[in-house]
Amino acid sequence: MLDVMLYLVSWFVVPPWSAVGWGMLGICVWVINRLRYPWWHSSDTMDGKTVVITGANKGIGLETAKDLAGRGATVILACRNLHKATAARDAIVRGGCRGQVEVAEVDVSCMSSVREFAKKLEGRQVDVLINNAAVADIPRQLTSEGLELTIATNHLGHFLLTHLLMDNLKTTRGRVVTVSSVGHTWIKEVKGLDLEGDLQFQYDRPLATLELYAASKLMNILFTKELHMKLHGTGVTAYCLHPGIVNTDIFNVMTSRVWYGLFVKLFVWAYAKSSAEGAQTTIMLAASKELQDVSGKYFVDCKVAECSSLAKDEGLAKKLWEISERLVQLQPHEQTL
Ligand SMILES: NC(=O)c1ccc[n+]([C@@H]2O[C@H](COP(=O)([O-])OP(=O)(O)OC[C@H]3O[C@@H](n4cnc5c(N)ncnc54)[C@H](OP(=O)(O)O)[C@@H]3O)[C@@H](O)[C@H]2O)c1
Repeated sequence: MLDVMLYLVSWFVVPPWSAVGWGMLGICVWVINRLRYPWWHSSDTMDGKTVVITGANKGIGLETAKDLAGRGATVILACRNLHKATAARDAIVRGGCRGQVEVAEVDVSCMSSVREFAKKLEGRQVDVLINNAAVADIPRQLTSEGLELTIATNHLGHFLLTHLLMDNLKTTRGRVVTVSSVGHTWIKEVKGLDLEGDLQFQYDRPLATLELYAASKLMNILFTKELHMKLHGTGVTAYCLHPGIVNTDIFNVMTSRVWYGLFVKLFVWAYAKSSAEGAQTTIMLAASKELQDVSGKYFVDCKVAECSSLAKDEGLAKKLWEISERLVQLQPHEQTL
């Protein structure tokens, strides 16, 4: 036994075997991951459907847009940077797709920008809204509208957009798909919600950057649960999901710190899905014809999954909803739910 252990240690630690050993380990991990990550193999089409995706110029959003346009949908890339959005549209069209691809400008962290965007879609068919855009691990800061930036981007902008597109979605008996994260489980306890859009939890101090991200992702699930309750009888359905650990630019901020960054990069390289693999659950939730009965659920790897007990707290979901209404200054004519 000791012989075997010494052999393994020497394989990974002693040069030149270490390089070969780590290389082989890397290849094994890569192959195992490709076999492990599920792909949504379905020929369900989206002809005649219109899908709005926020943050669709790169990463998971772009791969989702590419796939849905390939299934025949008209896809609206709702992005904060029109140049990037246009480049993404051109790339999708060059790759070949049956559907149409449009670009639209919206900064989801800015409520007036969300209102302007929604106004342009008034009276238009919308079958699926995919709340995908997000930022992670950025310093705590307020927007010009006085909202905390991570919470505004990842939760409040999408909360408002969902309200403003609800009449469109009711007409088509459409879907709302919100991209959350397993990061929501990092929040273990909530002491209260304050009016700066922060969740105050167990530490009685402002949240650190990654905790803010985790809080916003918890909000995504609480929002979906409450939305599902409010949608009763409308024919509109709501889903949320964790896409997996996906190798996208969302890790760039984290990797800007040298040692921590190196660790994150190694972890992501060894473990992460590609953006196309990471988009599979979102694609399924947008396109599958069989989901009507599972509204309000949280999905991982194309299957219903368990979220944290905090994310199932109905009282907290209701409270968050009320506070979000106040924070985005929802007007009486915007009360569509
Ligand atoms: N990658 C992962 O491992 C992972 C894990 C769990 C959950 N997720 C979730 O998956 C979703 C997609 O993330 P990703 O990994 O694909 O990240 P990404 O590659 O960084 O893409 C994020 C997208 O959001 C856009 N965005 C950011 N702020 C915006 C704003 N204010 N207004 C409009 N668009 C904005 C970005 O636009 P710019 O190009 O202009 O910055 C970009 O298009 C997010 O909800 C994220 O929380 C990702």
